[in-house]
Amino acid sequence: MISIIVAYTTDMAIGRGNDLLFHLSGDLRRFKALTTGNVVVMGRKTFESLPKGALPNRENAVVSTTCDDFPGAVAFKSLDDALAHYAGDSREVYVIGGGSVYRQALGMADRICATEILCKSDAADTFFPAIDPDVWVIDDAGEVMHDERCGVDYRFVNYRRR
Ligand SMILES: NC(=O)c1ccc[n+]([C@@H]2O[C@H](COP(=O)([O-])OP(=O)(O)OC[C@H]3O[C@@H](n4cnc5c(N)ncnc54)[C@H](OP(=O)(O)O)[C@@H]3O)[C@@H](O)[C@H]2O)c1
Repeated sequence: MISIIVAYTTDMAIGRGNDLLFHLSGDLRRFKALTTGNVVVMGRKTFESLPKGALPNRENAVVSTTCDDFPGAVAFKSLDDALAHYAGDSREVYVIGGGSVYRQALGMADRICATEILCKSDAADTFFPAIDPDVWVIDDAGEVMHDERCGVDYRFVNYRRR
């Protein structure tokens, strides 16, 4: 099963200046809980944005046409190569961004584990594609929570392909 995991605002913004828009501790905890022990697939720019490099206790897979040396990670020349490599793997495969990889993966994913941040963004430069309700249905939606540090409300919403 291929899952997308993403945090977006109400206008589907996900990043700015190769960084996240918000660092929500509850979101990061959920991300860690879901992805630890599994495979995380990401684009080169997202890998470069990781503050401490490859994410620990997960298999890190990075797609790039320009580089094949990512410390602590396995490099793939294409997203198709990466997903084919892990097809049949007993671990979950999580596509963790960024925008360009989400756009390509949306048509191949079985589920979306979203964090909806309940505000609009200022000057974001990277977005998640629209989630087509004819294709995706909400499996479960969590209660609205508040992040004190960032001053925003957010909730977890899981979608599955119809
Ligand atoms: N909110 C969230 O949940 C979330 C999650 C992750 C990232 N982000 C944000 O998203 C932004 C980064 O997204 P982005 O779209 O700029 O970059 P990205 O998708 O992380 O990386 C783009 C790069 O990945 C490689 N790539 C993509 N598709 C490929 C393919 N099919 N085959 C081979 N290589 C491929 C290319 O590298 P080469 O140029 O080397 O070929 C491309 O330049 C940042 O702001 C980051 O913080 C947000």
